[in-house]
Amino acid sequence: MTIQEMLSFSSVAESQNGYTSVSIKQNVHVPVMKQAVIDALKVRDGGFYIDGTFGAGGHTRSILELGAVVLALDRDQDAVNRAAEFEKEYPNTFFIQRASFSNMDKIWGKKGAPMKVDGILLDLGFSSNQIENADRGFSFMKDGDLDMRFDISQELNAKSWLNNAVKDEMVRVFQEYGQEKNALLIANEIIRSRKANPISTTFDLVKIIEKYNEFDRKHAATRIFQAIRIHVNDEFTHIRKALVEAKKILKEHGRLAVLTFHSLEDKIVKDFFANEVSFLQLPTQSEVEENSRARSAKLRWMIKTEE
Ligand SMILES: C[S@@+](CC[C@H](N)C(=O)[O-])C[C@H]1O[C@@H](n2cnc3c(N)ncnc32)[C@H](O)[C@@H]1O
Repeated sequence: MTIQEMLSFSSVAESQNGYTSVSIKQNVHVPVMKQAVIDALKVRDGGFYIDGTFGAGGHTRSILELGAVVLALDRDQDAVNRAAEFEKEYPNTFFIQRASFSNMDKIWGKKGAPMKVDGILLDLGFSSNQIENADRGFSFMKDGDLDMRFDISQELNAKSWLNNAVKDEMVRVFQEYGQEKNALLIANEIIRSRKANPISTTFDLVKIIEKYNEFDRKHAATRIFQAIRIHVNDEFTHIRKALVEAKKILKEHGRLAVLTFHSLEDKIVKDFFANEVSFLQLPTQSEVEENSRARSAKLRWMIKTEE
């Protein structure tokens, strides 16, 4: 059985069926801690790797360039569409599927791939392509449809949730996923506002938040936008499941590397790694200066020591 047969996942063209892809705005996503990730995964020629968060493919490319095989996943159809050039360039070593990384074990095992994986990468959060595209609703700096879904085939989006959630649920989400101190005031204001007019754009929401929050090192809407994004995409459930599944399909001495961008994400990974042989690395000062996304990044990785 060839690698292609073992990993014969649906191609880019097939995976578009049934989904309307939103327009792709070309924007360069600079991969965070690229060399550190390669070192953490100890990428080797001929090794098998899963990039659970393909995004713009920056990390995937550097793994492929070392002669390894990559199965890339992303929940976002736009990211999968961008992979077409990778499929042409690396027809025998690059494979992509639109899927959540929480299903990586099933996808890896789907075609009976007999071997286990050398390394797995999760680069959490959103890509520059997503934040730059106002229509995706991730950015509080751009006016656009309040969507925030990674997977646009999913029913729940930010707008539908905000216009229907009860107060207690909103307060819990804002506090738990955003550590927002004005959660109750903002939830009350959302309820008042949506009675008059449904909230439909990012700036509708920013205006509400700015009544209670001021710019304080971070934009006033940072915490609420983070909270809604985490909730709408059920991000923490996917991350927790992915860590468990990743460990199952790693070979002995295989490596799992995770890039996190805020303390809540990082705590999930740190807790999971607590009983593993694990390491932590932060970006260098020069990387932080060159790539604003690296500012809050933490790279943790673990080495699987037993089957
Ligand atoms: C920070 S970007 C990855 C960037 C990538 N490493 C690169 O170098 O271009 C994160 C990506 O993960 C995707 N994503 C978020 N949650 C996911 C999940 N549960 N499963 C798969 N992909 C996910 C997002 O759609 C986004 O494209």
